[in-house]
Amino acid sequence: MQLSWENLLERIEHCQKCTLCSGIHNKVPGQGNTHAKLMFIGEGPGADEDMQGLAFVGAAGKLLTKMIGAMGYTREDVYICNVVKCRPPHNRAPELDEMESCMPYLREQFLLVHPKVIVLLGATAAKAVLGDHIRITRDRGKWVEKKGFYFMPTYHPAALLRDESKKKDAWEDLKQVMKKLSELEEKDDALA
Ligand code: URA
Repeated sequence: MQLSWENLLERIEHCQKCTLCSGIHNKVPGQGNTHAKLMFIGEGPGADEDMQGLAFVGAAGKLLTKMIGAMGYTREDVYICNVVKCRPPHNRAPELDEMESCMPYLREQFLLVHPKVIVLLGATAAKAVLGDHIRITRDRGKWVEKKGFYFMPTYHPAALLRDESKKKDAWEDLKQVMKKLSELEEKDDALA
């Protein structure tokens, strides 16, 4: 099948593969630079995201915007999305079957954007993408390379809002991401 954004967004919009869609205002597919080198993946939309149909626009999103800015980028430079595209009720974590239903959409987004580096925000995203063995406190800050793509698990911005002491570690993780991106760029330049 030929992948296209139009087709993907249309299927997300009409998706009823799990029950999450029954209580929502909007699907939240994700947004940003569709050719970004850097992709951020969160857990699932919250109340603000559900109302606006946009990923990471609430309190955690504001912090994510600051984090992206501190890295020297804008939100328009990167691609931002979530594991599930519908808000789980009462902001609970998405269930396994809900994530499984939604993962094909994330895979297609990944193939379309083709980022070099992917930041996994929090345990849910890290487990969904890298496997259930991931423990965010143990595995954050450690690169996982798969088929030439670089995955960096780090704390979810909501966790940083709850516990400011985690911010220092999260910043170390993001500094590693900046370093990796500039190394990969240098490599590209050398090959050009
Ligand atoms: N938390 C997430 O994981 N994603 C959002 O889009 C907002 C909050």
